[in-house]
Amino acid sequence: MALRNGPERFGAVSKAFHWGMAAMVIPLWILGYVMVQPTQDLLAQYELYQLHKSFGFVVFGLGMLRLLWRSVDPAPPLPPSMHPIQRTAAQLAHLLLYGFLITLPVTGFLMSAASPLAIPTVLFDTVPVPHPIGPSEQTYAFFRGAHYYLAMGLATVLVIHVLGAIQHTLIGKDSVLQRMLPFVR
Ligand code: HEM
Repeated sequence: MALRNGPERFGAVSKAFHWGMAAMVIPLWILGYVMVQPTQDLLAQYELYQLHKSFGFVVFGLGMLRLLWRSVDPAPPLPPSMHPIQRTAAQLAHLLLYGFLITLPVTGFLMSAASPLAIPTVLFDTVPVPHPIGPSEQTYAFFRGAHYYLAMGLATVLVIHVLGAIQHTLIGKDSVLQRMLPFVR
């Protein structure tokens, strides 16, 4: 399989970014939802928060690398059989997904930094990350709200994205899903 994208299919690097990030972002979303539930086990909750923050940073790094890669290896064009409205909707969904993958980690980090609890950010219990801002109740509330609404936005667009891919296969009967599937030549 070619490393770079071709005119009608994605290459190995784009596929690895796509499926690698999907495999990380969906569990990260679920972890975020689970960890905020009230619990008596505060130590376990603390560990879950640290794991969430650490993988959030990995997603941010991968998101940046993915954007860089996309700028040198553009996606193959959507099939001409697609209606212009469908095409615009797909492009908008992709743009929003990239936007969420960048803004979610940024708001999550700034929320953690502004938290009145002043808990340091130490990735995978090993790499300390200095906080760019100090504790502030107001700033914390702002970024917490932003992170929550962005997470809900991501979930909504992700569902639309998956339904779109299924629609292409079952109704449109085109190759839009196949060209992104791993191990399909
Ligand atoms: C793509 C990356 C990320 C996704 C999809 C994501 C998703 C979520 C979700 C779904 C929640 C639960 C929201 C709720 O129900 O209240 C959450 C909470 C949280 N996230 Fe993230 N997150 C990401 C990155 C990050 C990063 C990088 C950090 C920090 C460095 C972070 C810090 C937090 C914190 C501290 C909370 C708890 C908020 C609270 O206490 O109410 N997140 N996240």
